[in-house]
Amino acid sequence: MLQKINIAIDGHSSCGKGTLAREMAEKLNYTFIDSGSMYRAVALFFLQNDILISDTEQVVKALKQINLDFQYSDTHSRFEICLNGLSVEKRIRQMDVAAIVSDVAALSSVRKELVRMQQDLGKNKGVVMDGRDIGTVVFPDAELKIFMTADVEIRAQRRHKELFATGSEISFEEVLDNLTSRDRIDSNREDSPLTMTDDYRLLDNSHISQKEQLQIALEWVEEIQKKNGNP
Ligand code: CDP
Repeated sequence: MLQKINIAIDGHSSCGKGTLAREMAEKLNYTFIDSGSMYRAVALFFLQNDILISDTEQVVKALKQINLDFQYSDTHSRFEICLNGLSVEKRIRQMDVAAIVSDVAALSSVRKELVRMQQDLGKNKGVVMDGRDIGTVVFPDAELKIFMTADVEIRAQRRHKELFATGSEISFEEVLDNLTSRDRIDSNREDSPLTMTDDYRLLDNSHISQKEQLQIALEWVEEIQKKNGNP
């Protein structure tokens, strides 16, 4: 039997990390974990409970009241992020959450809690996790680390189309501003900034299809498995 590995996919906002991670997990029969959904769920809790990001005491107290897990949805045939038992998978994609999530994710108390959960989820290998710090902090020993990016305008177009399809009337400019601002905060924060260290393989998908990116990534997996002595 093939030895399972962990796969870390990090990169800029809205460049399709989740899509690639999900498709790789399906092909390899691995578990897909969207670490961003966990930060988004915490941000949603902060919004719903008027938690002030600048008030450390409030934040620490709030974290104790948050329970996150992934539950299978028969309706959507996928695992969905649940905040205190209720699926918030759709709600966390809205703009009010996107507007504050990077500030929430810059808090060390939040990161500490979520990284611990993520490491636990990956301890038996066979996980494809996407985020910003998966290859640098969560699984520094991941056998495959992919850094994804694409032109920011292309990323904004894709995310705008996605939001539009769910009935949102947000403008293209607002989406572009949000992506630019999240990338800036994510790359410049003190705790676990988004960084491409030299053990990552770069995947710029500005001009390649979903199918092509999957093929490239699966070839990398194969190469690593061969190097590890698997047939
Ligand atoms: O899918 P999208 O690129 O819009 O973002 P996401 O993966 O849902 O992540 C939302 C936000 O959570 C990011 O902009 C980061 O601020 C934060 N995040 C993080 O700090 N570390 C992670 N491992 C994953 C997400």
